Amino acid sequence: MNASHAAPAPSSSAYRETYARWQADPAAYWLEVAKGIDWIRPPQKAFDPAAGIYGRWFPDATCNTCFNALDRHVRDGRGGQTALIYDSPVTATKARYTYAQMLEEVAALAAVLQDLGVGKGDRVIVYMPMVPEAAFAMLACARIGAVHSVVFGGFAAKELATRIDDATPKVILTASCGVEPTRVVEYKPLLDGAIEMARHKPEACVVLQRPQAEASMQASRDRNWRSLVAAAKAAGRQAECVEVAATDPLYILYTSGTTGRPKGVVRDNGGHMVVLKETMDQLYDVGPGEVMFTASDVGWVVGHGYIVYAPLIQGATTVLYEGKPVGTPDPGAFWRVVAEHGVKALFTAPTAFRAIRKEDPQGKHLAGHDLSRFKALFLAGERADPETLKWAEDLLGVPVIDHWWQTESGSPIVGNPLGLGLLPIKHGSPTVPLPGWDVRCLDEGGHPVAPGTMGAIVLKLPLPPGALPTLWNDDARFEDSYLATYPGFYNTSDAGFIDADGYVFIMGRTDDIINVAGHRLSTGGMEEVLAAHAAVAECAVVGIRDALKGEQPCGFVVLKAGVSQSQEEIERELVALVRERIGPVAAFKLAVTVGRLPKTRSGKILRATMKKIADGEDYAVPATIEDVAVLAEIGTALKGRGIG
Ligand code: COA
Ligand code: AMP
Repeated sequence: MNASHAAPAPSSSAYRETYARWQADPAAYWLEVAKGIDWIRPPQKAFDPAAGIYGRWFPDATCNTCFNALDRHVRDGRGGQTALIYDSPVTATKARYTYAQMLEEVAALAAVLQDLGVGKGDRVIVYMPMVPEAAFAMLACARIGAVHSVVFGGFAAKELATRIDDATPKVILTASCGVEPTRVVEYKPLLDGAIEMARHKPEACVVLQRPQAEASMQASRDRNWRSLVAAAKAAGRQAECVEVAATDPLYILYTSGTTGRPKGVVRDNGGHMVVLKETMDQLYDVGPGEVMFTASDVGWVVGHGYIVYAPLIQGATTVLYEGKPVGTPDPGAFWRVVAEHGVKALFTAPTAFRAIRKEDPQGKHLAGHDLSRFKALFLAGERADPETLKWAEDLLGVPVIDHWWQTESGSPIVGNPLGLGLLPIKHGSPTVPLPGWDVRCLDEGGHPVAPGTMGAIVLKLPLPPGALPTLWNDDARFEDSYLATYPGFYNTSDAGFIDADGYVFIMGRTDDIINVAGHRLSTGGMEEVLAAHAAVAECAVVGIRDALKGEQPCGFVVLKAGVSQSQEEIERELVALVRERIGPVAAFKLAVTVGRLPKTRSGKILRATMKKIADGEDYAVPATIEDVAVLAEIGTALKGRGIG
């Protein structure tokens, strides 16, 4: 532990007091926190246990999220303050939008959506790169009570098609392309392909033309974003904020489940705002007028919460960065952004820091950057390895705060509450449960385990405001996936332990979700793709250790007898197939042909054992294994690729 970052005991008392206050009376606590939001009809009641699946928050309140993110700051005199800084090293562009300018952009775009027939409760898919218009799109939907569903740009057409069919959007908002450091990714062909594949057809697609690649337009369906917005502005069209129930959905965000079919996580309007505002105060310690830089993507929950909604609801300034931690142009990119824009808090995934460290282990690129306003680094999205944490602490001289959450939670569950006073840091632990979260560690039978003992990390119901109330159009899957295993608890599918001081340690997933460069991916989904290849008889995908990305997927395939193609050719096709069907974000580069897969006598594939072999870890031979010799065969196949 770096002594300079360990808080003196008195500062932690605010955390203990706040957590105890929540525990003593959650309803009173949340009604108090809710005062940070401008409601149309303020909540009289915090929680209705009879509504929804496990209850609903602020059941009698009404509000508008866009009003809280923009209008109220303009009303309160922040109109001239910068709301959003767009910094795009990949296009050599920088731009700033004040709250007043952003409101104008959003209200005009919202009017365009209304003209296209989008109203309260209608879904709008947003398939956009990291440009300011992506944030405008989300806020424009929120303004008119429409439900946005942002799809990450690194997903391929088929993934987009699945989401189109599930969300059934009236309109899709997109751009002609994304810009990766080494290539321009044309979005429009992907979108056209997805719409062709999908059963549901949107009525219109609004396309933001970018100069790096102009999209060809279909006259009957596609509209030009800039022309529509310019016309709306010229006509003085500004959509008003629409009143929605606090429990109405703000967005659907699809995340990987255990099959190829993603889960549509639903987020409500009221609870989401309340909890985001609370975390800005208690955890991130970023206040009105201060600058937050969340280096993620609007396609992920981290981007929804902390690039767009939380900093704006707080009246802070957000940095929307279109670039990478390295290579755009060098590993000093983050330091430049932090210094140039006076960033107070930087939030990213540990993989970004592993990438920076790999290219600049001495931190030479820090030189010449004034980081005097920089106060804390926040890491989430995957386990933060203690080595990287220590390196970042020593380099930056500010607290490095690991915190744990999921798409489903919508906001951090466990963290070190900087805003309440930093608790002593234990490397490897995201620290303690935040107010609202009752975190437990259970054994397979659902009994609490002793401190320090590994178990399933679960959350006592009800979940706090901002957490998912259900899955889009699928209450049964919600109950089955999250609530069925441990009655009375939400199963996080993360394994870990809680130590004697109450510090939570998150060690890995208990299901077949893997985490590649902070991106959550389903190995089941990849297996579905591999199995679709005509030459594949059987397959298993596991996440194996990767020094940069944390994990990388490795697909073991057994080929059908008598296939004429060479093994190498099939493996190449499999790599290409996953890229085509799921997208480059899957980072699937490794298909390994084996003679057979290790299985139990009941036919269950021993994925965990294969992972241990690949990671070079000791493993116990499962007692129920069908044929122990298969394990050596797997080891040999991996050694042939320099793994294990
Ligand atoms: N649109 C299209 N393609 C995208 C994309 C997007 N928005 N984002 C990523 N991709 C592509 C990449 O170009 C890469 O393609 P390639 O196989 O042709 O090289 C592939 O998807 C894998 O992306 P990723 O795993 O992110 O690797 P990377 O090479 O882009 O970046 C690091 C590697 C090291 C910079 C990575 O650590 C990083 O910082 N990732 C982002 C972490 C993050 O934001 N996580 C979100 C949770 S907080
Ligand atoms: P996502 O839904 O994409 O945010 O991914 C959530 C998953 O990422 C969690 O269930 C964890 O497995 C993992 N994760 C996120 N943050 C952390 C963290 N700080 N430490 C360990 N694992 C994490």
